[in-house]
Amino acid sequence: MFKSIFTAIFAMATTAVVAKTTIAVETNKTQLVMEVKDDGRLYQTYFGARLNRNVNLDELTMPLGVVLSTCAIGNEVYPVMGTEDYYEPALEIRHVDGNPSSVLKYVSHEQKSTDGGTETIINLKDDLYPVSVTLHYVAYPEENVIRQWSEIQHQEKGKVYLGRYASSMLYMESDRYYLTEFSGNWAKEMHMSETELTFGKKIVDSRLGTRATMFAQPFFEISTHSKIQENTGEVLMGTVAWTGNFRFTFEVDNNNELRIVSGINPDASMYLLKKGEVFRTPDFIFTLSQNGAGEGSRDFQRWALNHQLYKADQDRMTLLNNWENTFFDFDEAKLTELFKEAKDLGVDLFLLDDGWFGNKYPRKDDHAGLGDWEVTHSKLPNGVPYLVKKANETGVEFGIWIEPEMVNPKSELAEKHPDWILMRQNREPYYFRDQWVLDLTNPKVQDFVYGVVDDLMTENPNLKFFKWDCNSPITNIFSQHLGENQGNLYIDYVRGLYKVLDRVQAKYPDLYMMLCSGGGGRCDYEALKYFTEFWCSDNTDPVERLYIQWGFSQFLPSKAMCSHVTNWNKRASVKFRVDVDFTCKLGFDIDLKNMAKEDLEYCRQAVREYNRLKPVIYSPNLYRLVSPYETKHCVLERVSDDKSHALIAAYDIHPDFNEQLLPVRLEGLDANSKYRVKEICLMPEKESQMPFHDKVFSGDYLMKIGLKLLTGDDMTSRIIELTKE
Ligand code: DGJ
Repeated sequence: MFKSIFTAIFAMATTAVVAKTTIAVETNKTQLVMEVKDDGRLYQTYFGARLNRNVNLDELTMPLGVVLSTCAIGNEVYPVMGTEDYYEPALEIRHVDGNPSSVLKYVSHEQKSTDGGTETIINLKDDLYPVSVTLHYVAYPEENVIRQWSEIQHQEKGKVYLGRYASSMLYMESDRYYLTEFSGNWAKEMHMSETELTFGKKIVDSRLGTRATMFAQPFFEISTHSKIQENTGEVLMGTVAWTGNFRFTFEVDNNNELRIVSGINPDASMYLLKKGEVFRTPDFIFTLSQNGAGEGSRDFQRWALNHQLYKADQDRMTLLNNWENTFFDFDEAKLTELFKEAKDLGVDLFLLDDGWFGNKYPRKDDHAGLGDWEVTHSKLPNGVPYLVKKANETGVEFGIWIEPEMVNPKSELAEKHPDWILMRQNREPYYFRDQWVLDLTNPKVQDFVYGVVDDLMTENPNLKFFKWDCNSPITNIFSQHLGENQGNLYIDYVRGLYKVLDRVQAKYPDLYMMLCSGGGGRCDYEALKYFTEFWCSDNTDPVERLYIQWGFSQFLPSKAMCSHVTNWNKRASVKFRVDVDFTCKLGFDIDLKNMAKEDLEYCRQAVREYNRLKPVIYSPNLYRLVSPYETKHCVLERVSDDKSHALIAAYDIHPDFNEQLLPVRLEGLDANSKYRVKEICLMPEKESQMPFHDKVFSGDYLMKIGLKLLTGDDMTSRIIELTKE
């Protein structure tokens, strides 16, 4: 990477004959090189494809961190606000004496093996103030993923505030930068759009408090030189593992160099850091692909399966949920009928959704009862134990919905513990879905929230599954527990949540949990550590779901992406709806009783086929062959690690009249092997019309010529299985 000729000459003139400390963080494909310069500070000197061993890393000359007359130059690894770097800093610290800056000098570093990777720890400190920062990088060679975080602490006597506390600062240099962001709203999650970054800043952030997102997801992709491609070009893909306010700042400077600052959103969060307390930032997790977003996604998914997703090595349960079928209108008789339908469908679990609790204020709609986690006696007189027993006797597991961080004003909890609610005392309260948020910074509230799970599990040890919902962002932003330290609220809320989840995980290691947040508001990488799966969106229209799943598939493994067959978009056939969900974690949330006979039979068959094909469906080797963003179709392919088995899902959305339909070239197969190609999941009594059905092709043919997978028919789909002969 080079800056202007002038700065490069300047750098050469000032860097002669000094012994260098060079630190390389590397995977099998990527290298991040840092160097301590003459001023004792740490600078990034390279970030890109891994260099050959014969390249001398000490010779990667980047400009020194000095000020010229008109601009600051640097690439300091963890720049601080108030120093000679005039661009977006990583750290802002206000000392006891009011001084708003620090200069961080290199002290030492070490590298050691950790679980599946190599950890690099770099210690920096200020000469003047007792402030230190430790940078951590864990590089995972096989998956080409790097995880990075910082630890900040001080020994000052008095009040020290952190105004910024990035997890990571990365620099890239190219002629052009293209940012792919993932924006959205309720029922419109993960919409992908691409913009070119030019001089100045672009911020992607959220301020919802309880969740990472509603409008902007905590993921990004940066393509250098040209627009993002699936199989070619350099792409940086990153995420902040934090279930709360996040911020990515992309800043192109006066030399057209890009800096990327990632971490917690510091807005309204001037953090009071106690003496000796370690402020540990969330992880920033990233991969740098030289072969487009496709390879980046496969690396991310593999890493998540190997290192982050809870119970990644264990199976997932197919399920029948009652939400869209009954909403709040159910009783014991109705539920026991649904258990039988779940059994007949062949799924593993019945999931009881919202509306089972509250007595003084029964939860008959979303206006009351939240917080009162006692079964509604008039509705379910025999309680949850009866339901668990009945479900188990019918042959399905039982799971239950909770939203334990929230409270309706109309509830016994709100009456008893108004001090547990985040609430400004001096203003009119406002509501989101008629509810308020409990103050998880308060340990008593953490006990209460933990108790919701603990009480249910104590009463019902056979409960197998929770759907943990979180419908409201933080409203009425004031914690009675934190007093004057309100700047800590957003951060301590999320830390309080993690404390609760740690306790749940420690006491109930067999429990499976789905995380939901008014749809897909909490699909973040830290939550991945606690939850087995995620509800990606309340939007289950199969056409729109294809785009939502296309977006999430950039980062999330299929095993973690719940996808349920519902009645959204009845113009689409049941087969099309099922086939869209088939590539993720399959579930049903639909009235099966009134379904046409052949559709119900199709669903039963799909569950059987899904169970048989789970290993390949859950493989991280995803090839996105045809994009719904670029065509009127969508084709996805998953390949097993040993390339002996593959599954293709091909969808025609709204094809054009008389459209030219070219064969789709497959990817990731063994060119020298032969594969039998079969269309599976056919409607009862139907035979495949695909000319390639039940024929054998070489991997080479399939990857160079391809299969005619697409048709001109509206909202139709095909599931194709490839088996090595
Ligand atoms: C929002 C979720 O996204 C839905 O699936 C459902 O669980 C409702 N909450 C229940 O209130």
